[in-house]
Amino acid sequence: MTQIDSLRAKYLGAVLEAADEPALEAVRLAALGKKGEVALMMRDLGGMSPEERQTTGKALNALRDELDAALRARKAALADAALDERLRAEWLDVTLPARPRRVGTIHPVSQVMEECTAIFADMGFRVAEGPQVETDWYNFDALNIAPEHPARQEHDTFFLHRAPGDARPPHVLRTHTSPVQIRAMQDQGAPIRVIAPGRVYRMDMDQTHTPMFHQIEGLAIDRDISMANLKWVLEEFFSAYFGARVRTRFRASHFPFTEPSAEVDIQCSWVGGTLKVGEGNGWLEVLGSGMVHPHVLRAGGIDPDQWQGFAFGMGIDRMAMLKYGIPDLRAFFESDLRWLRHYGFGALEAPSLHAG
Ligand code: PHE
Repeated sequence: MTQIDSLRAKYLGAVLEAADEPALEAVRLAALGKKGEVALMMRDLGGMSPEERQTTGKALNALRDELDAALRARKAALADAALDERLRAEWLDVTLPARPRRVGTIHPVSQVMEECTAIFADMGFRVAEGPQVETDWYNFDALNIAPEHPARQEHDTFFLHRAPGDARPPHVLRTHTSPVQIRAMQDQGAPIRVIAPGRVYRMDMDQTHTPMFHQIEGLAIDRDISMANLKWVLEEFFSAYFGARVRTRFRASHFPFTEPSAEVDIQCSWVGGTLKVGEGNGWLEVLGSGMVHPHVLRAGGIDPDQWQGFAFGMGIDRMAMLKYGIPDLRAFFESDLRWLRHYGFGALEAPSLHAG
């Protein structure tokens, strides 16, 4: 009996002293494991008298249960303590203000493309796209631009090299968004109402020209579309874009892919060196346009005896400069952070026709 009592005292003490789970497991093995002290005493029961065996057996069972309960209780307490410690260590104040971070801006060209797209979309135009690397057929031939036309001469078109020995004509960087007219005709057939915003390339570089710039092409084909529809669409567009009634002036012009062709000016004033659109007696040229040439309709797979329509092409960078008072075109593509922060737009200032 005294031996059992001293075992109880020894192991209950050891349980309380165990500082972590591995230490506790060592105590459990020493006491209750197969070769533990309690097990060894149980083995001795065989050599006892029946009475002795009964009382000692009971006492040993009680000791085993008691130690087992103490081990479990200690194990739970250690786990709780470990969790408390983790909670203390990993504590975090989610109410602290976030560290300030520089937020990027939307480039004026992207912003203006979105603005234009929103306005034309409201008039039922969908966005069409085409590749920036074009075949000369899409960029020129299909648009009725003959091989000897000056626009095809090396001085303003970027050509891509073919592999040596490849006799096919080289690809070009598209010099305008007009090839998307052909692609849209081929893709959807008539009727069509699309705009095509995107990058275009010409070998040109001075204060008002960059070798890459942006255009928006417009194309509307139906049974009886006329220049009158074109004028209405453009005046609606400019008025929505500049936020004031803007008058347009059509001047006769020439493009190989439209007949008749017109260059379009918008009304403006120059007061004290600043340009204001939508007032005054000045005119500013902003786009080329016309009725799609029958050869072009045919190249796009559309029967010119059944269908007709207008097309226009407008410089987006120019539109951005006019609306937001940006003086130098070249700065658009210099990636100067100060310029970008000054003229850029917040990511949440998404253009729409229903918000200011
Ligand atoms: N593609 C012409 C340009 O780049 C513009 C244009 C488009 C003219 C459509 C007429 C019709 O200048």
